[in-house]
Amino acid sequence: MNKKRVVIGSDHAGFEMKEQIKKYLKQNGYDVLDEGTDSTDSVDYPDFAAKTVTECLKSGAAGIVICGTGIGASISANKIKGARAALCHDAYTAIYSRRHNDANILALGGRVTGVDVGIQIVDLFLSTKFDGGRHRLRIDKISKLEEE
Ligand code: RB5
Repeated sequence: MNKKRVVIGSDHAGFEMKEQIKKYLKQNGYDVLDEGTDSTDSVDYPDFAAKTVTECLKSGAAGIVICGTGIGASISANKIKGARAALCHDAYTAIYSRRHNDANILALGGRVTGVDVGIQIVDLFLSTKFDGGRHRLRIDKISKLEEE
């Protein structure tokens, strides 16, 4: 995962948070690709999750998907082979989504998480490394589930 490149996408309920996170990432030297949406007009979260995750997996970039709760975006993201999307609400879930789950997609809830906490989560997600070891074996088992 190339952590200096981030692909981000949201539905209408995640739009404001997406804009804030995008601004923060750009100010901090990240190359950000925005897969939409472009306003608060109602759209369907699976469409944006799919576009964002597909681009991430193709390019090896980190991914961020945002909807109102983060639930729809994470469920949708995890339907795509190779995605390990983690819905994070705080520093602990952000850190362990990387350390234990090697998550490659971060899901956030724009209606449940404040922007400052969201940015803290993004920072931790992008800076924390996978522990490997026994966790690698478990990730391999997840990959096997995709083949069944
Ligand atoms: C949109 O109203 C809302 O349902 C969506 O953003 C998300 O929270 C779904 O999980």
